Amino acid sequence: CNVVVLLSGTGSNLQALIDSLDDGTDNGKSPARIAAVIANRSDAFGLQRARDAGIATRVLEHGDYDGRDAFDEALMQAIDAFAPQLVVLAGFMRILTPGFVRHYHGRLLNIHPSLLPRHKGLHTHQRALDAGDAEHGCSVHFVTEELDGGPLVVQAVIPVHSQDTAGSLAQRVHVQEHQIYPLAVRWFAKGRLRLGESGPLLDGNPL
Ligand code: GRF
Repeated sequence: CNVVVLLSGTGSNLQALIDSLDDGTDNGKSPARIAAVIANRSDAFGLQRARDAGIATRVLEHGDYDGRDAFDEALMQAIDAFAPQLVVLAGFMRILTPGFVRHYHGRLLNIHPSLLPRHKGLHTHQRALDAGDAEHGCSVHFVTEELDGGPLVVQAVIPVHSQDTAGSLAQRVHVQEHQIYPLAVRWFAKGRLRLGESGPLLDGNPL
């Protein structure tokens, strides 16, 4: 299964994917292979991680394009050049157009640092604190046209402690992200996870 990863920043989730897809648990032959990493900023540290792992990289600076549609059109071309079965958003800080999302229907995953449907959008850790949530976490979901609103695949939950800050929550949520994203990508690559007519299916059972 060829995977293309899109990112804008640090890329710790990319690193978790690189490490886990290469950990030998599938007799050294992972069902998923990261074919390319594409960033919308040339200074994204994730690009360096990709280069270090010998993965092809591409940069499309969104400022170089005349609007969202033109950028997404170019992005689709760059992605499709690698003929991926799966596209993985790993901290890609751009809102994607409906045309883009439709083009990758059922093969576009995102990870979000909250227990969706709570706290869609940005600043999720602070918002969980402000809301007095007893639990927080992260969610992997298929991407649909509704921002952070696509069908859920897997979540990890952490308790919120009274001394927690946005920073401490971010740290503990990241540890969980690095567990559940590779898990979801493996499921997809092995053909166990797919988006059915009425929602995601794992081994044929509704999630
Ligand atoms: C993660 O918190 C993820 O949930 C969000 O963007 C962040 C990316 O972190 N979508 P990293 O670049 O993978 O470290």
